[in-house]
Amino acid sequence: MTTTLTIPDLIRKKRDGAEHTRAELEQLVLGYTRGDVPDYQVSAWLMAVYLRGMTPQETADLTLVMAASGDQMDLAGLPRTVDKHSTGGVGDKTSLILTPMLAALGLTVAKMSGRGLAHTGGTIDKLESFPGWSPDLPEERFLAQARDLGLALIGQTKDLAPADGKLYALRDVTATVDCLPLIASSIMSKKLASGAHTVVLDVKVGAGAFMRTLEDGQALARAMVDIGTRAGRQVRAVLTDMDTPLGHMAGNSLEVQEAIRTLRGEGPEDLTELCVALAVEALVAHGEDEAAAEARARAALQDGSALAKFRAFVAAQGGDASLVDHPERLDVAPDRADVVAPASGFVGRLDALAVGRAVLALGGGRERKGEAIDHGVGVEVLKKPGEAVAAGEPVLRLFHRGGRGLDAARALLEGGLSVTGTAPQPQPLLLGRVN
Ligand code: URA
Repeated sequence: MTTTLTIPDLIRKKRDGAEHTRAELEQLVLGYTRGDVPDYQVSAWLMAVYLRGMTPQETADLTLVMAASGDQMDLAGLPRTVDKHSTGGVGDKTSLILTPMLAALGLTVAKMSGRGLAHTGGTIDKLESFPGWSPDLPEERFLAQARDLGLALIGQTKDLAPADGKLYALRDVTATVDCLPLIASSIMSKKLASGAHTVVLDVKVGAGAFMRTLEDGQALARAMVDIGTRAGRQVRAVLTDMDTPLGHMAGNSLEVQEAIRTLRGEGPEDLTELCVALAVEALVAHGEDEAAAEARARAALQDGSALAKFRAFVAAQGGDASLVDHPERLDVAPDRADVVAPASGFVGRLDALAVGRAVLALGGGRERKGEAIDHGVGVEVLKKPGEAVAAGEPVLRLFHRGGRGLDAARALLEGGLSVTGTAPQPQPLLLGRVN
């Protein structure tokens, strides 16, 4: 829809701190998506949004306009649909565990997932550690698999919320990424276009996350829950710590191995507890009692039902499912090197950003979209913050291939590790909830 205002009028309006109408946002955003409004005008507008912010109504309107800028998935024929999103972290293999858990618990997960970018990992890259597994399913097969198995996962397509694809790329080069209404609308436009009734959000807070402080994380969580509610969806968010990596493994195949251990009920406590907490949010959103939901979620990890779903899901999308029962056969880089404690004491800081960047340096992530990655490299956290260590004892193990990136990765990890004389205060993993 076109208003009587020109594009410079709209830029001026935001520059001066006024509120856009939905029609104005359509004119700007849909015009940009079609190619009718040039990058330079949208760049100026993005900077005005960055500096002036947006009201909750404006943010919700922007999200709806972006969600409607391309195809929208129709999941109406599927029962009890749920989607999950993490704002990105290091060692965050939660989706690999949570999605088969939810399917085993009777919900339907028909989900679009992303690849890793910069220091954060992505679910699609992790799953591609299974030779043959593919995120490219035609829509009909995707929907049929979701109906039959309760779980189907596709990669990001350019047809879903294309406005976000274009705007995100422009934000990336105009210093307008770290802007709350733009992040919230970007994430939620894809969630709304993906069609699930319920969305569970894991908003990461800390050194390895987009949101460095709890206040910023809370504001982002509130904004996203508000957008979803205005759009008639059930959205629940948890805020979780990302100062230090989740679980022990960072790197694609290593994370898949740890996810399988967790699906067998033998996972690290932090990862297991997060998966249970997110499953409870999803079940409660679908009307279940909280205590009963928690018992069911724990049981799915103990009785093999979530693992069985995962095996069937890997096979359904072309992966070698025998590796689910023999994860030791996944391709893990053969060479090892350790980072040791510089003194005796307790592990203090173990910086998630440093670990994520070390995985990147070893070749396990990409700096630019489309780069090939080495699924086998990564970092194992042998000692978590708060654990006692002796001088010279290994704290971190690097899995590398022939020394590629090893010096840089080691330097990053040494810089991200501190050993203290007294045990640090334990950091809770779950920092809050927004419903
Ligand atoms: N993830 C997104 O999808 N968009 C953002 O703006 C930030 C993180």
